Formats: sequence, structure tokens, C-alpha cells
Amino acid sequence: MHEREAVSPEADVDERRLEGALRPRSLEDFVGQERVREQLSLVLHSAQRRNRAPDHILMSGGPGLGKTTLAMIIAAELGVPLRITSGPAIERSGDLAAVLSTLQEGEVLFLDEIHRMARPAEEMLYVAMEDFRVDVVVGKGPGATAIPLDIAPFTLVGATTRAGMLPAPLRDRFGFTAHMDFYDADELERILYRSAGLLGAPLDPEAAREIAGRSRGTPRIANRLLRRVRDYAEVRGDGDLTLHNARAALDLYEVDALGLDRLDRAILDVLMRRFRGGPVGLSTLAVSVGEEAETVEEVAEPFLVRSGFLARTPRGRVATPQAWEHMGLTPPPDAAFGAGRVEDAADTGAA
Ligand SMILES: Nc1ncnc2c1ncn2[C@@H]1O[C@H](COP(=O)(O)OP(=O)(O)OP(=O)(O)O)[C@@H](O)[C@H]1O
Ligand SMILES: [Mg+2]
Repeated sequence: MHEREAVSPEADVDERRLEGALRPRSLEDFVGQERVREQLSLVLHSAQRRNRAPDHILMSGGPGLGKTTLAMIIAAELGVPLRITSGPAIERSGDLAAVLSTLQEGEVLFLDEIHRMARPAEEMLYVAMEDFRVDVVVGKGPGATAIPLDIAPFTLVGATTRAGMLPAPLRDRFGFTAHMDFYDADELERILYRSAGLLGAPLDPEAAREIAGRSRGTPRIANRLLRRVRDYAEVRGDGDLTLHNARAALDLYEVDALGLDRLDRAILDVLMRRFRGGPVGLSTLAVSVGEEAETVEEVAEPFLVRSGFLARTPRGRVATPQAWEHMGLTPPPDAAFGAGRVEDAADTGAA
């Protein structure tokens, strides 16, 4: 797997531990996602008024956008305990039965990566979500019987980075789905100020803007870049989170002004200099930057496409005018994006 520590939206165990300290604890402290926050606030407070467990809640969105944070906030807002498990931890339906049968009334069950749960457990979850019941199978073979067991009413909070991979019957059993979007620069700046405050390091406004601009719309990346800048400022600079220190630190980690890292830039560079901006096939492009096609496609391209630097067309990858500009290169007169072809082709969504 390609090394891209600085701008990966994923986090390893160590980083997740660090993140705990930076999590907002209430809906009020949770920055951005205005619509989700408002809807959620309504769902939670109306349930509280009726003195019932709220509907099951599904959160979908990319890594590092705040799903786990929001799950914890939901339990905190309701003032109920939170039980945490994840799809991969549920290998058999018995694993799920053990969790469900020990829930307290009103408890929030957070099921992270719910799309990775074992299939047989899904059936059990359907019944539990709908009827607050699990059917415990006793015995084996033809003599086996299912004994229905009532469980306490609870609220399931599911999180997934791949809502499309959830079977429809499961998706339908959630009363509310929160779609988490990428954050804009203002929101990321607010998150950065908040985190800097918690780290005890005052953040200059220009530095906040600079870091936000390089954070790919993702709070996790923003917080990570902030820590890098803080470390840099402590070791190399005067300890202050200034624009100068922010730029120097992020240049050192090869995260450019718009959040592109070395691989992103290598892809654009090869695409432009060697292939005149494309179109070029994925595998050729990958070989040219010395990476697996899968890495290029899954690690680098989503952000390049999302930020309008790269188009996937039926005949291959094409650099957009924005990409030429960002890389400071001049497209040849016959570059592939001429005459609206990129836009047309990109619409087909084909690779
Ligand atoms: N809206 C937000 N306001 C403030 N901080 C946030 C917000 N969203 C996320 N963060 C911070 O970003 C980090 C990552 O968030 P979180 O762990 O909730 O992401 P996630 O969506 O669960 O990611 P994954 O899919 O990898 O589990 C945390 O440190 C969290 O505090
Ligand atoms: Mg999470």
C-alpha cells in the first residue's frame, strides 16, 4: 500500500487515540454539517419529549468526516450509555446476540462499519431493530428450536463509508440517515481553532486558513496537519502557529497549497508532460508513476476527480484546465480537454 500519511483520510490505532481528545462532545460543539445537525437534533429531542428511544440512525460518509464523533454525541445528548462494536467484530449471529441481549433500556448501540457484518447476523439485526427481539437458536440439526427473547428497546447507530453496500432491507430499517459531506474551508478553520485551543497552541488566522486549504475537506486531515505544524513550530520555529511555520511544515510533508501530495502531483505531472494531458489508460498511468493501478484508482483519483483536476473518460484519464494551471504548465493547443470533450466524457462516469 502506498505511503501517504499526511493526507490519508484513514487513521491508524495511534492516531485514533489522539483523536479522542479532540472530539466535540455535544451537538453544539460539532462544527458544520448544519443540516445533519438540525435533523438529528429534532430526532433526538422529539424522542426525548415522548420518552422513547429514537429511531435507528444510519450515518454514511467517507472516513474522517465525523461519524464516530457523532455517534458518541448522540448517546451524550440522550444521556444514555453507549455500546460500541463493529461489523468485522460480528462474525457469527451469536456475536450479535450476545451484544443485543445485554443492552440496557434506551442504550445506544454504535455499529461501526456496519456493511462488513456477517450476513447471518443481518437477519437477526432486522428482527432486533423492528421488534426488539432476538431468536436464540437452541440445539443443532433437525431438533434445533428458536426461542424468542425480548430485548430492551435501544437505538442502533450504524456507520458506513459505503452506504451503497448495505442491503436494502437493512437500510430501510433506519428511521433517519445522516449523509456526511466534506467540509468547506470556513468549517475546517473553526475545527482548527477549536483543536488548537485544546492543544494549548494559539493559531494565527492566516495559518488556520492555510491549513484548512490543504485539508481536503476532512476534519481528520485538518487535525493531523495541525499537529504536524505544531510539532514543526516547537522543534524548528518559535513555537507559534504562524503562516510561516504552517507553510514550512506542510511543504516539508509535501502537502501542497490545495492538499495534493507527492503521488497526486506525480500523476498529474506524468499525465501532462508525458501524455500531453491524456487521455491515457489507468494501467499506463500507474506504471508511469511506479504504482499499482489499484493505488492510483482508489487512493489518489477520488480526490483528484472530486477537486476537478482529473477526469475519467471512456478513453482514459484526462488532465483538466485547472490541473494545468495548478501545476503551472501550459497545455498544448491540441490538449484533450478542448471543445468541451472532458465535460461530455466525464458525464458518462466510465473509467
Ligand atoms: N464536525 C466536526 N467538528 C469537529 N471535529 C470533528 C468533526 N468531525 C470530525 N472531527 C474530528 O475529526 C476526527 C475524525 O472524526 P471521526 O473519528 O468521527 O471520523 P469517522 O467518520 O468516524 O472516520 P472513520 O470512517 O475512519 O471511522 C476526530 O478527531 C474528530 O474530533
Ligand atoms: Mg469512525
